[in-house]
Amino acid sequence: MTLRTLFVLLVLVALPARAEAPLRGHGGPVRALAVSPDGRVAISGSFDQSAILWAIDEGAALAVLRFHDGAVNAAAALPDGRMATGGEDGRVALWRLGSAEPVAVFADHAGPIAGLAVSPDGARLASASWDGTARIRPLPGADGPAPDRPGRVASEHRGNVNGVAFLPDGRLVTVGYDAALRVVPEDGPALTVTLPTPLNAVATAPDGEIAAAGADGTVRLLGPDGRERAAVAIPPRPVIALAVSPDGGRIAAATVGGAVAIIDRRAAKVLFTLVGPGLPVWSLAFRSDRELLTGGSDRLVRRWDLRTGEPIGPLAMAAPADGLAAFRGERGAEVFRACAACHTLGPDGGNRAGPTLHGIFGRRIATAPGYGYSEALRRLDLVWSPETVARLFEVGPSRYTPGTKMPEQTIGDPRDREALVRFLERATR
Ligand code: HEC
Repeated sequence: MTLRTLFVLLVLVALPARAEAPLRGHGGPVRALAVSPDGRVAISGSFDQSAILWAIDEGAALAVLRFHDGAVNAAAALPDGRMATGGEDGRVALWRLGSAEPVAVFADHAGPIAGLAVSPDGARLASASWDGTARIRPLPGADGPAPDRPGRVASEHRGNVNGVAFLPDGRLVTVGYDAALRVVPEDGPALTVTLPTPLNAVATAPDGEIAAAGADGTVRLLGPDGRERAAVAIPPRPVIALAVSPDGGRIAAATVGGAVAIIDRRAAKVLFTLVGPGLPVWSLAFRSDRELLTGGSDRLVRRWDLRTGEPIGPLAMAAPADGLAAFRGERGAEVFRACAACHTLGPDGGNRAGPTLHGIFGRRIATAPGYGYSEALRRLDLVWSPETVARLFEVGPSRYTPGTKMPEQTIGDPRDREALVRFLERATR
């Protein structure tokens, strides 16, 4: 089974639960994750075609980034705070915090992007694609103009390239469905190692060790010379995501069928597994040596304490400080928790990833001051009332307000929609 077939299958399996499931930040499984070097901001990419920027400690969504025509499969954080996303549409987009449009777009691949990596000096961006190539391109300076040259092909595989990572010395490592692992210098011949199994993911440690894994559920540890040092089996197979902690001490590996294994890299042993809701996990990113973020099919980004193996809590469900406590225990407030990462309610809450809902009833669509609405929303002609807000989540934002950047979500139970609008009537006055 190809990885692509697997994605389709899992998405299909995940769909029936959708109507009853509580709402989340994303409208689909979280396929990609990255954390800024200072550990404060995360970016998540989803099958729902959007990326979300998160202020991790606040549990607040800073922005919903809508650009890709298809799933957002890959994400990377640059040392200067910019973020990159790669999509099923074959495009790579570069984002600056606070801008609603990409600051640069690279459309040089002929197939979906499956992985992204930033070089250690922050100057180059590599992408893995199902067009059978990995490309490298120089990144424009923080204020510089977008480059007009396509990236150059750095590595080729027979079939999908599923992962890219940089070694500390700047060489690129690529892995593919053809079971090959390639180590590519900036110039000169590449080193190719063929492993026993199709490869889905690769990550590198600060000392240059490479972790690669795929269909057979084994994480292999290799030197930059391609020599295998150890292999750690983490059934059930296959492994779909890998990450190495900043200090190189831990590897996190996610399998389609099971929990997330935390591996002691030097000892090449599984220390423990993270068990909990949200499986399977599609994406992993270390925030620090002690904290891991996971993105799963429950559409949440979850935080884990690696000293205890316990969940810290999902990002999108953080209870905000702005007055929700006063409504504790009410059904409508519970339903609203799924909106709270993106919307505030009170007069002083301000805009988050979404506009403030203060004074929403009787307000014309797309008119909250100071918020950068999508073109699509600004073109619509309607006034928010308990009926229109209920209808928005009965049919879903993508049908009710086509082209909106609010992630797709529905509230299936009419009693929950009713409870939500009754709550909003009181909390947004
Ligand atoms: C992940 C972030 C996110 C979540 C979660 C979210 N929204 Fe939104 N919402 C947005 C964004 C972004 C917009 C603006 C859309 C645009 O400009 O196209 C928006 C717009 C809206 C609007 C229209 C506002 C206006 O001024 O016209 C309403 C109403 C709304 N959301 C209600 C909700 C409710 C209720 C929930 C929970 C059930 C919710 N949203 C969950 C991001 C979110």
